[in-house]
Amino acid sequence: MYMCGIIGYIGLKKASPILLKGLKNLEYRGYDSAGMAVLSSNGIEFRKGAGKIEEIERRLNFEELEGSIGIAHNRWATHGDVNDINAHPHFDCSKTIAIVHNGIIENYKELKESLSDHNFESETDSEVIAHLIEEELERGLSFEKAFMSAVSKLDGNYAILAIKADEEKILTARRGSPLVVGIADHGIFLSSDIPSFLEWTKKVVYLQDYDVVVVDRNGIRIHNLIEGEVSRPIDTVEWDAEQVKKGGFEHYMLKEIIEQTETIQRAIQQDEDVVKRIAEEIRRAYGTFFVGCGSSYHACLAGSYLFSKLAKTHVNVVLASEFENYEHFLTENTLVFAVSQSGETADVLEAVRTAKRKGSRVIGIVNRMGSSLTRESDQFLLMNAGPEICVLSTKTYTSQVALMTLLAYALLERHEECVEKFKELYMDIYNLTSRSMRDYLKRLAEMLADKEHIYLIGRGLQYATALEGALKIKEVSYIHAEAFAGGELKHGPLALIEKGTPVIVFVSKENEERILSNASEVKARGGFIIGISAERHEIFDYWIKVPECGDLNPIVQIIPIQILAYQLAVLRGLDPDKPRNLAKSVTVI
Ligand code: F6R
Repeated sequence: MYMCGIIGYIGLKKASPILLKGLKNLEYRGYDSAGMAVLSSNGIEFRKGAGKIEEIERRLNFEELEGSIGIAHNRWATHGDVNDINAHPHFDCSKTIAIVHNGIIENYKELKESLSDHNFESETDSEVIAHLIEEELERGLSFEKAFMSAVSKLDGNYAILAIKADEEKILTARRGSPLVVGIADHGIFLSSDIPSFLEWTKKVVYLQDYDVVVVDRNGIRIHNLIEGEVSRPIDTVEWDAEQVKKGGFEHYMLKEIIEQTETIQRAIQQDEDVVKRIAEEIRRAYGTFFVGCGSSYHACLAGSYLFSKLAKTHVNVVLASEFENYEHFLTENTLVFAVSQSGETADVLEAVRTAKRKGSRVIGIVNRMGSSLTRESDQFLLMNAGPEICVLSTKTYTSQVALMTLLAYALLERHEECVEKFKELYMDIYNLTSRSMRDYLKRLAEMLADKEHIYLIGRGLQYATALEGALKIKEVSYIHAEAFAGGELKHGPLALIEKGTPVIVFVSKENEERILSNASEVKARGGFIIGISAERHEIFDYWIKVPECGDLNPIVQIIPIQILAYQLAVLRGLDPDKPRNLAKSVTVI
């Protein structure tokens, strides 16, 4: 479920340069630490450390590792700090077994307790896997049997690679986390993603959940923990170099929309104590501001509804470019949340400096570690969404909203409950970004591609979603899109509705009656109603089904509009990744 990149190689060539290149191609999956273990005549040799791969490769000299069998890992921390010890690979007590792991081992605490006589070095959940294998080996099992037995004890998600001194093989298992085999002339690859080995081969075998694979110099053997011995077909991928970087997708925008299954989960993996302390600061503050631009501002607005309705806490939402007008209200007791994906937006940084001049405390909500906002704020929460290459914010928007939700729940001292709610969202997001959903929205896009105007309406939290939806549509398809609070229609915008005018209506259980009544005002004037809701209503001309998720509606309801905006751009022959006149980080005021 959580992103990290893993890669293994067994073959005729020296493994370390191949693995290093693979890690660089997998960097989009995580980049706070990296490491590598290689089988050599002296047993297992390894290097690992915290930092981006291009920073640590000079320090760690990965390529000094000799040997033609090895495994490697890019980390994106979930359990344990970012430091050298928590970087993968992890080992058993005698360092004869090395493992790398992508995922979360949910029962690692119980497993660790059952291994109390083992010497654990790191704070990670992953290390337990190496010690489990060691324990099984001590019972007299072979490496393969010990690995299989260890894997069958794991709850959660995993893609694991394991090597053992004196055994010329790599063992691997997957459940929930991606893992694919690459078959080249000179060797076999095991990796989280195809781009890591595409330079060497286009022949791939996609592994399935519960597959346990033995890869040695004779080839691969697959045993599925449920089905027994299985064979899986060899496919050939046809990608060009550009697509490779995009993980096989035509555009970064689509790739990043789809990544939300994982990025939303990662956003809420925050240190609970830190979140609690921030909640305490909000309680104590004399005035709290949420400040951002564009999509980040919309996330702030969604946050303000959540704070108000859930936590009964008032916050001021201000566009960063307008913040100076509120300067007089800033004191040493004011708390300012500066929300920015890039952490480089000039208007946001200006607002931060204004706040700091007044002695107010600034907390950044930011995606890019090392950005100006991480340096200039007093404290920051990272969205952990991974690099967002498309100019439009998609996955970073939902990460921002997820963090706002987490803070609102923290104010109610219901952190755990919030985390559980998000976990339950996993399959919903997966379904909302599925191919069938994308095809369904493409049909809608075909109906809308020639329209001059699209309007969006919502109430409460759904008004923030409507604003964000309108921004997505207009900036990528260049169709004029505008959002209104449902109740505002009769105060002017209704004059815009004529026969066939498309209006997207965001419906939630809470305000169903009132927003449907707004929709009927539109329908009565000939409007074409596109409903986004859990249930179909008669008034809809087109229905986009989304689950009813209460406080989490802003996350599930925006995803179809992100996809619709993408499809509109593609149908109109535009490059969704690079809309005209726009830049990813707006570093000018
Ligand atoms: C919209 C979009 C922009 C950004 C805005 C703020 O898709 O990407 O509206 O949200 O420029 O950028 P950050 O979050 O980097 O401060």
